[in-house]
Amino acid sequence: MLKNDLLLRTAKGEKVERPPVWMMRQAGRILPEYRALREKVDGFKNLVGNPELVCEVTLQPVRALGVDAAILFSDILVVPEAMGLPYQMIESKGPWFENTIDRPEDISKLVIANPDADLLYVAEGIKLIKQNLNNEIPLIGFAGAPWTIFAYMIEGKGSKTFSKARTFLYQHPQTSHDLLHMITESTVRYLKMQIDAGADIIQLFDSWAGILSPEQYKEFSLNYIQRICSEILHVPKIVFPKGAFFARRELGKLNCEVVGLDWNMEIEESRNLIGPEKVLQGNLDPCLLFADFNTIRKETLRMIERFGGKHIANLGHGVYPDTPLDGVKCFIDTVKAIR
Ligand code: CP3
Repeated sequence: MLKNDLLLRTAKGEKVERPPVWMMRQAGRILPEYRALREKVDGFKNLVGNPELVCEVTLQPVRALGVDAAILFSDILVVPEAMGLPYQMIESKGPWFENTIDRPEDISKLVIANPDADLLYVAEGIKLIKQNLNNEIPLIGFAGAPWTIFAYMIEGKGSKTFSKARTFLYQHPQTSHDLLHMITESTVRYLKMQIDAGADIIQLFDSWAGILSPEQYKEFSLNYIQRICSEILHVPKIVFPKGAFFARRELGKLNCEVVGLDWNMEIEESRNLIGPEKVLQGNLDPCLLFADFNTIRKETLRMIERFGGKHIANLGHGVYPDTPLDGVKCFIDTVKAIR
């Protein structure tokens, strides 16, 4: 059905001719055509909320870079918004929530998201993207993992430590579970809508996995990721737990097909801890793409050799917006030239 289904075959554990390659944050400010379009649109949210523009921006890196997958252009924060906490994206600062969860009683103002009403623009965007992709490559849908969404709902903005969110776990463990449960149910519904609209595979971004203790990570994050994965049956699932090196054994037991590694995680050690079953994704340092072409090629090939199959080539986190485009292309082309 798909002309290039390398990503899906790899995610299912099949032997493939070369690793598929895509980049987290491939759609966005690395591309001049994104920056040009962004100038014309009044704010990030008006881009995310417009299906035609979402389609255009999703396809930009497909055309410019020749990646093996498209990823939906959106943001993980549309889920807390659909639950009753609207966000703003403040220019060169990041997300900001007008209302946050400060006390247990605050969660009574929230609802479990109803994506068919409040996130319909995402489904419309996905349908347009699928039409325009014309079965060339798969489309990755995504959501934030419940713990990461929880952290933004409590904190209200980015933070180095997310200490407010971690404090809430100690002060209000039962409310924390109640809120994580609501986020989880919202996310299941949201991902099912994305899959019904045409997403071929999904990724859960647990961007703040690395700030919890190992025990807390099991209790407040992995349990809920497991619950989401148990509800998503017909497409492969990628879990990206940024910084959760301490949980790699547990991640090996998760009911997903793919685990994403960041660049702090040693490849062979990760394979040993996670076990032979999972496909691994990652894990070059995004800063490598600022290096000279020989270095980029050498490090990319060395990474691929060390993974030795069952691998989706990617960076260890999102590409930085100021990365030289030639460095990005060198990375993608190096993977695609492998026979
Ligand atoms: O990967 C892609 O190409 C798809 C698009 C995508 C965006 N955000 C677009 C975006 C995806 C998958 C996300 C996920 C996301 N959003 C995460 C998880 C991944 C990660 O990076 O850990 C998180 C934590 C967010 C929340 C968020 N959105 C923050 C903290 C910021 C500000 C920081 C920044 O990079 O500017 C955003 C804004 C954002 N999301 C931009 C883009 C392209 C930049 C907005 C702009 O165009 O000015």
